Amino acid sequence: MRSNQSTSAGFRFHTGDCVKGMAKYVPDASVDVVVTSPPYNLGIKYSKYDDKLAADEYLEWTKKWAGEVRRCLKPGGSFFLNVAGSLKEPMLPYSVINLLVGEGIFKLQNTIHWIKSIAMPTDEGSEKQRGHYKPINSQRFLNDCYEPVFHLTLEGTTKLDRLAIGVPYADKSNIARWGHTDGKDVKCRGNTWFIPYKTITRRAKDRPHPATFPTALAEQCMKLHGIRKDLVVMDPFLGIGHSAMAAARCGVGRFIGFDIDSEYLKVAVEEMESAEWAVSLS
Ligand SMILES: C[S@@+](CC[C@H](N)C(=O)[O-])C[C@H]1O[C@@H](n2cnc3c(N)ncnc32)[C@H](O)[C@@H]1O
Repeated sequence: MRSNQSTSAGFRFHTGDCVKGMAKYVPDASVDVVVTSPPYNLGIKYSKYDDKLAADEYLEWTKKWAGEVRRCLKPGGSFFLNVAGSLKEPMLPYSVINLLVGEGIFKLQNTIHWIKSIAMPTDEGSEKQRGHYKPINSQRFLNDCYEPVFHLTLEGTTKLDRLAIGVPYADKSNIARWGHTDGKDVKCRGNTWFIPYKTITRRAKDRPHPATFPTALAEQCMKLHGIRKDLVVMDPFLGIGHSAMAAARCGVGRFIGFDIDSEYLKVAVEEMESAEWAVSLS
């Protein structure tokens, strides 16, 4: 374990089932921000976890782990849940959100559209595709270039730091025109976030996990909630550690992560340590 000032207060990764782990290690109402992406039940080939439960079993399990997240979250906390379907299972994220919101476990405060790839006009008047996606060959379906990130809270009233991830005004005359700008050249970026995966050439070495989100996505979620040094962040499905890396980059004081697969956590620890962030693993 190496040390870095910013993470000296404690980044902890636990190997094992997150439902049992949260019950054992995380007190009631002690976590400010949860950023996570659970298995989507789409038959992804994880090295340990079997991603193909019966649909009702998957929802039952979702209710169990999300119930633990609810118990751990502080009243003003934020839970950013990245869960997507597939072209053949398009209803999956809506079933999950219908369950969590419909049963009163959380309020849906925002829905963020994580755009992985987009075609944009160029200054020359043509179009250019930016970002990456898994191409499909189909006469029925479009290539799938986005995933939802649901911002869930206990009351639907959690205050956010919108300008921490704000963007400059395109038309600078708006700065003086609108009183709420306070004279600053920054405005809310809205709920469509273009965050492409990094270009990689050696999948097994550069991203040894079949279903990750970019560190920048988690970073933007944490900044939107609002960064403080004493912030406690948790990811029950840590994978190879992108949310932990995001928390370290944001200067978050405490982080708790779980994954059932020790191999993924080993990669997460290596990544953290190679960036000189201290972390303990159990
Ligand atoms: C979608 S991936 C998360 C990837 C992560 N966001 C990243 O960027 O690396 C889901 C993870 O959940 C883990 N997992 C599955 N069941 C689990 C459980 N009961 N408790 C903890 N982790 C579990 C899998 O091993 C997998 O790494």
